[in-house]
Amino acid sequence: SPTRVSRIPHLLAFCTLLVCRSRAESILIKGGTVVNAEVSQISDVFIKDGLIEAVGPSLKGDADTRIINAEGKYVMPGGIDPHTHLDAPMMGTISIDDFASGQGAALAGGTTMNIDFALPIQGDIAKGFKRYQDVSKRAVMDYGLHMAITDWNDKVSSDMEKLTKEGINSFKFFLAYKGAMAVTDEQLLKGLRRSKELGALPMIHCENTEGLVDAQERTFSQGFTGPEGHYISRPATLEDEGTARAMYLAKYVNTPIYVVHVMSKGAAAEIAAAKLRGQRVIGETIASGIAAEEGKIWDPDFKVAAAFVMSPPIRNKEHQDGLKAAVAGGVLDIIATDHCPFNSTQKRMGIHDFRSIPNGVNGIEERMHIAWDTLVNTGKAHILSTRQPALASGIITPSAFVGVTSTAVAKAFNAFPRKGALAAGSDADVIILDPKAKHTISASTHHSRIDTNIYEGREVTGKVVVTVSQGKVVWENEKLNVKEGAGRFIKLPTGGELFAGLAEQDETAIARAFPYGVPGKPVQRDL
Ligand code: URP
Ligand code: ZN
Ligand code: ZN
Ligand code: ZN
Repeated sequence: SPTRVSRIPHLLAFCTLLVCRSRAESILIKGGTVVNAEVSQISDVFIKDGLIEAVGPSLKGDADTRIINAEGKYVMPGGIDPHTHLDAPMMGTISIDDFASGQGAALAGGTTMNIDFALPIQGDIAKGFKRYQDVSKRAVMDYGLHMAITDWNDKVSSDMEKLTKEGINSFKFFLAYKGAMAVTDEQLLKGLRRSKELGALPMIHCENTEGLVDAQERTFSQGFTGPEGHYISRPATLEDEGTARAMYLAKYVNTPIYVVHVMSKGAAAEIAAAKLRGQRVIGETIASGIAAEEGKIWDPDFKVAAAFVMSPPIRNKEHQDGLKAAVAGGVLDIIATDHCPFNSTQKRMGIHDFRSIPNGVNGIEERMHIAWDTLVNTGKAHILSTRQPALASGIITPSAFVGVTSTAVAKAFNAFPRKGALAAGSDADVIILDPKAKHTISASTHHSRIDTNIYEGREVTGKVVVTVSQGKVVWENEKLNVKEGAGRFIKLPTGGELFAGLAEQDETAIARAFPYGVPGKPVQRDL
C-alpha cells in the first residue's frame, strides 16, 4: 500500500538562530563577478531589508552590515525552478518532499523560488488550490503555483478565472496518464482558448496518450515488466508527435504556449519549427533530460532502476546532446527539474508492473550544479563578455546560465524583475557560486527526503557556497538555516509580454479569413 516516511522533524534541527532571522539583516557581497542574464561584471551587491539596495563598484554598507567576500566567485540571482511536484498526490501515493523539505533542498542547491504544480482533487481545481494553500504553509522560501487541468466543465472554466485572481497565471495540461490526469484534444482546445482569454499561459506535457497505452500493453506482454518497460514504452516518436500536435493546436488558437520537460531532440526540433513560424513558445528541458544516465533504468537492482522512472523518459546521449545544443542555441529557454521524488518503498508499488511505478525523479537540489557543470564552459566563458549565448554547441556563458535557470522563468511567469535579476529594488534572492569547488552528489548528503539520487556518485565542479533568500543567509558552510512558514506565496499576474498584441493579430487573421464579410454576418443566399 502507499507509503510515506513520517515527517521526521529534522528540518527543525536546522531552524536554529530564529532570533537572528527575525531581525532585518544587511549584507554586502564584495568583489564577486555579478552575473545577470544580459551582462556580467565585477561588482558589489548591497542587500538590506530583504531587497537589493544597490549593485555597483566600491559600495559601502551600514555600521552593522555583514560583509561577504566573493572574490573569484560568481554572484547570481537565485535559481527559479518552474517545475516541481512537492507534496503531490500522484499514482496512488504522495511525493516524499513537502514544501519544507523540498524547498530546503532547493536552497542548499542555489534555488530560491519554485513554481509548483497544484493538482486538482477529482478534477476540481478550486478544491485542489485550497489543498495547496494548506500544504504550502510549510514553505521556507518564496514560491508560486501553476494549476493542472485534468477535466473540463463549466465549473473548471469559471474556477480558472477565480484562480487567476488568486495569483495563478498558468494552467497545465497532460497529454499522458490516460485514466488519470490526461485530457483529450477536445478538452485541450477548450482549455487553450480559456487560458488565452484569461491571459494565462498554457503548459503542456507532450506525448501521445493513446500511443503510450498501446506501447505499454505491447511492452508488458513482451515480458518487459520491470522499469526498463517504462523506457521501452515511451519512444521519442510519441513525444515528438505530442509536441508537434500541441504546437499546431496552439497555432490554431493563436495562444502562447509553454512545453514542459522536453526530453527528445525531435520535440526540441518541433519547438524550433514553431518558433520559426512566429509562434510564442517557451521550451523547458530539465536537469535529468540533459544529464542523467539513460542506461540505469536497465539496472538489475530494482531500486536503482526504478529511481530513473519518469515521463517522458530519460533518453540517450544523442537526445541529450540535441537538448544541450537546443539550450545553447535558444530553442529551449529554461532548464527546470520536474522534481517529483518517490522513495524506493513507493517505487516498489510497481515491482511487478512498471505501469504502477510512481513517475518522477529528484533534481530540485541538483539542478543548478548539474546545469553549471554540464553547460557552462567554466574555464573559458568569460565573465566580462556580454555576448550571448552559444559559444559552441551545448556550451553557455554564466550569463546564459542565469538566463535559463532564473531570468527566463521570472519573465515567462511575470515575476521579473522582482525575481530573476540582481538589480536595485529586486528581491534579495542571491547565490554565490564557487567555480573551483567540487563536490560529489549523494543520497547520503542531499537534503531531499528521497532515499535515492539519480546522480549518485557524480562529481560536479562549481558549487553554490552561499544562498541568500529574502535578504537572509539561509545556506552557508554546508548548513541550512531556514524557517517553516517563512516562504511567501508570490502572486503571479496574468497577461504580460507573451500576450501583448495578440488581439491585434487575431483581428488581422479574421480580416484575412473573411475577405468578403465578418463573423456573425454570413453570406446571404436565396436557396
Ligand atoms: O514523471 C514525471 N514527470 N512525474 C511528474 C508528473 C509529470 O508528468 O510532470
Ligand atoms: Zn509531465
Ligand atoms: Zn512534472
Ligand atoms: Zn536534511
